[in-house]
Amino acid sequence: MLKTLSFSDVSFLGILYVVSVCSSGDHGRNLAQTLARRGGNVLFRCPFPFHVNHSAVTAYWWRDGNKSFLQANGRKRFTVRRGGAYLHVLNVTVADAGMYHCAVKYQHRTVGKGTGLQLLVYAAPVPLKIVSTSFHKASSTFLRLQCQTAEFHPKEFNLTWHKNGTRILTGISTVQQETTDRLYEVISSLEETRPIEQGTVYTCQVYHVSISGPANCSYIVDNVDYHAVPVHLIYRSILGILVIIILAVIIFDHVTSDMLHRYRNEETKRNSVTIGKLEPCSECTPVGYDGECFKIHFLMTIV
Ligand SMILES: *[C@@H]1O[C@H](CO)[C@@H](O)[C@H](O)[C@H]1NC(C)=O
Ligand SMILES: *[C@@H]1O[C@H](CO)[C@@H](O)[C@H](O)[C@H]1NC(C)=O
Ligand SMILES: *[C@@H]1O[C@H](CO)[C@@H](O)[C@H](O)[C@H]1NC(C)=O
Ligand SMILES: *[C@@H]1O[C@H](CO)[C@@H](O)[C@H](O)[C@H]1NC(C)=O
Ligand SMILES: *[C@@H]1O[C@H](CO)[C@@H](O)[C@H](O)[C@H]1NC(C)=O
Ligand SMILES: *[C@@H]1O[C@H](CO)[C@@H](O)[C@H](O)[C@H]1NC(C)=O
Repeated sequence: MLKTLSFSDVSFLGILYVVSVCSSGDHGRNLAQTLARRGGNVLFRCPFPFHVNHSAVTAYWWRDGNKSFLQANGRKRFTVRRGGAYLHVLNVTVADAGMYHCAVKYQHRTVGKGTGLQLLVYAAPVPLKIVSTSFHKASSTFLRLQCQTAEFHPKEFNLTWHKNGTRILTGISTVQQETTDRLYEVISSLEETRPIEQGTVYTCQVYHVSISGPANCSYIVDNVDYHAVPVHLIYRSILGILVIIILAVIIFDHVTSDMLHRYRNEETKRNSVTIGKLEPCSECTPVGYDGECFKIHFLMTIV
């Protein structure tokens, strides 16, 4: 399998991932670590002497806590070139994190060995997302903001809220949950307890080991109408207008059908009949959709 790899493939890998190769330097007492981002690629190198016929070696890779050797698959590829066997892991997942070991054998002898390389996998909590909802209490507009992270790893994080650059400490509730295997998501809600002001900038800041500085996401208060009619009053007014229109249509309907009816019967008292039909509803104020009038209630269910 190793022999089928063309030279150009090998040198391509060699050139492209020279940095990863260097970072996997396996000398020294300290634990060698290499860092990969979820979805990125990582290359491990298992060195052996240059004079060994690299076409005739066999490389073995395994991980701590697993006695079976790693097998090549769509994401894991093995290559050998002069002086080194390589394990190329593509589209890294957090499950790939762990300690990697290798050995190279040539004619039943071990000619190369890796001392162990710790792979850390990071997934950054970005992009952040803010969702806003406003609500009304005592005819003022208040604000509820929700800051949501992307899936991240490892678990540790901290999240802060700022208002015009000043840290907010109250009205915040932050919840972390595991979405899929070892990936976490955080949703933090901020409830602004004071009436909001035009132009105020609310910022959600997330610190995580995968990013050098905090990730920020801001919400700028725009178009606040201080004397805004609370939404429920607007709904009531719309409802009231609808009720009036429907009432008008129904009354018109009754009047015309009554007129036709009375024309046919050659009656002459149609005016009083019309007034009589109007009366039961005349006490309902148009906006009071919760009024006592039967007709209005009936119309409400139509609406
Ligand atoms: C290296 O190994 C391959 C496969 O075993 C063999 O065909 C080739 O002749 C060897 N080359 C040298 C220089 O020994
Ligand atoms: C060991 O690795 C094999 C494949 O490399 C995998 O199928 C198996 O689930 C692993 N076992 C443990 C305990 O991680
Ligand atoms: C990488 O793996 C994830 C699942 O872990 C998959 O959803 C995604 O499509 C893969 N990306 C590529 C480029 O293969
Ligand atoms: C958040 O975490 C970072 C490191 O991850 C740390 O430097 C910072 O002081 C922390 N901030 C707070 C407010 O805890
Ligand atoms: C925040 O800053 C904006 C613009 O500078 C200002 O209009 C607004 O009143 C400020 N809000 C608060 C609560 O200080
Ligand atoms: C987020 O805000 C902090 C402090 O305001 C700043 O230091 C940092 O550079 C910002 N990060 C980004 C990605 O803009």
